[in-house]
Amino acid sequence: THCILIGAPVDCGKRRQGCLMGPDAYRTAGLAEAIAALGHTVTDVGNLAPAPSDVPEDSHLHKLPDVIGWTETLLAAAQAHAEDGMPIFMGGDHALAAGTAAGMAAHWAKKDRPFFVLWLDAHSDIHTPTTTDSGNLHGTPVGYITGRDGFEMFPPLPVPVDPANICMIGLRSVDPAEHSALQAMDIDVVDMRMIDETGIATPLAAFLERIKAVNGVLHVSLDVDFLDPAVAPAVGTTVPGGATVREGHLVMEMLSDSGVVASLDLVELNPFLDDRGKTANLMTDLTASLLGRRVFDRPTRSIK
Ligand code: ARG
Ligand code: MN
Ligand code: MN
Ligand code: MN
Repeated sequence: THCILIGAPVDCGKRRQGCLMGPDAYRTAGLAEAIAALGHTVTDVGNLAPAPSDVPEDSHLHKLPDVIGWTETLLAAAQAHAEDGMPIFMGGDHALAAGTAAGMAAHWAKKDRPFFVLWLDAHSDIHTPTTTDSGNLHGTPVGYITGRDGFEMFPPLPVPVDPANICMIGLRSVDPAEHSALQAMDIDVVDMRMIDETGIATPLAAFLERIKAVNGVLHVSLDVDFLDPAVAPAVGTTVPGGATVREGHLVMEMLSDSGVVASLDLVELNPFLDDRGKTANLMTDLTASLLGRRVFDRPTRSIK
């Protein structure tokens, strides 16, 4: 695989600052070197910058023009780089996924390949600018990519992602308005209770089988807060009771075995809150598992 590291120091999706340092934390943790050691080629294209936006500031929506500028930049960057390999977006907060996931969706629509999204997160991020209570737009990217109403001031969505092609794993903080949206939208939702009851492999295997059955491709959006704060403290929106290191690696190894992953977001890392780089290192190790790092090889099989 040719991996394209794309720095997206998006820090406007919420009030607490620090995610702008994310891309450099991944570089410091040796993300490029870890990927190259697995036999892949790697290009780091450096950091992007937001397009200028003439949308005015909004009294409720935090840094709306910046988020719109980033969405425009990342919509274009995703489509430009998808042609050459596997884009890995080094965030940056989760507002960046409006542009990355929608851009990847546009790319694969042109190739007539069914497009799927795996959202690994404590949160569903399916608000719209109208429903968000916090005004933090990192809580809205799934609303944007599924074509919900309320994003009229955003760049036009090239092609909506079918909610039936989205799976969210790790949910444990969902606002009432998000709950209603999820209920109406046919998204595959896997909360922590389901993980405890069935294990994380069962729902993931079922989703991956659905993708393979239609020769689909998958965009993975990995929020640091998918993981338990004890092992991944460097995030502003910690929620107790998250995925373990072992569950994180299992997910990544299954994704690697599936062969369907086309692109990856690494989001919400706030290096200012980290503990001697442990979160940046864990996110780097998880990415290595996704790209084939193993302790022992397994005969290829799906876990049922
Ligand atoms: N639902 C909450 C909100 O809208 C939290 C969103 C957290 N999102 C994230 N990407 N960490 O403010
Ligand atoms: Mn998120
Ligand atoms: Mn989250
Ligand atoms: Mn439902």
